[in-house]
Amino acid sequence: MVSEIRLFAEDTYLEKAQSYQAVLSSRGVDVKLDVIDKLNARFLRLNPDLGLCVDQDGLWLSANGMKMQPDWKAETARLKRASLKSEMIARACNLAEKPKLIDATAGLGHDSLLMAHLGGHVTLIERHPILFTLLEDSKQQAASDPFLAKVMQRIDLVFSDSAEYLQQQIEQKTLVDVVYLDPMFPQRDQNQQAIKKQAQVKKQMQLLHLLLPEDGEMDLGDYLLVLAQQISKRVVVKRPRHAVFLNAQQPDHQWQGDACRFDAYFPKMLIE
Ligand SMILES: C[S@@+](CC[C@H](N)C(=O)[O-])C[C@H]1O[C@@H](n2cnc3c(N)ncnc32)[C@H](O)[C@@H]1O
Repeated sequence: MVSEIRLFAEDTYLEKAQSYQAVLSSRGVDVKLDVIDKLNARFLRLNPDLGLCVDQDGLWLSANGMKMQPDWKAETARLKRASLKSEMIARACNLAEKPKLIDATAGLGHDSLLMAHLGGHVTLIERHPILFTLLEDSKQQAASDPFLAKVMQRIDLVFSDSAEYLQQQIEQKTLVDVVYLDPMFPQRDQNQQAIKKQAQVKKQMQLLHLLLPEDGEMDLGDYLLVLAQQISKRVVVKRPRHAVFLNAQQPDHQWQGDACRFDAYFPKMLIE
């Protein structure tokens, strides 16, 4: 995991940059702050290594001439098109019932944002300090947006490893309606069609993959399923369409889409 990173900011945003630096440092990331002349496309092209930058829109991850942030405000058009009927995730997570959900693999938070918009009360867990800080920033900005402000009241963010968080919930005998899991999945293990789709993944995902590289032993999150089943009525796992089952465990129900599917588990102890 990245424990040292450069943060670029123009002089105007120095104070803002220093506060991100302090927050990241409290989360174990050593940030080298660089004040630069102009944060523009040319600068990003000339500084292709993975880094962070700050501007009027907050904190960004940058690499290879691109920059990205979870940018929940930019999801507004997508959210406005979404409905309980049209979204497979809504059926998989039973969002019509306004469930209490834990998203144990938050990432950019886009799935959770959609689930909260469609009525869920979502606690997002993310263990990566940089991603978590980007998420926090996105939530803060979305809270002042007239369309998203209400949705933000149904979203909580927790900086933690989900294995620890779920274990705590088990010990406290907390029950939730749904635990949602979307762990990273190695691109090399997907079939040709899925790989083709991956080649077109948005730049957000490309940068996310740089931050969470998949060489070495990638954490596939199999253990999360076992923990999640102990505290929820339903565990929903998002997978690439042809991927193997999480923890090699056959689901009780599936929803199939073109690029991905949702595998649902209904823990037996709770329905018996
Ligand atoms: C594929 S991304 C999730 C994408 C997300 N569904 C979205 O809509 O943006 C997986 C994320 O889960 C996080 N993650 C994986 N295992 C985790 C764990 N044990 N605890 C907390 N976060 C975890 C990774 O850091 C990564 O950000």
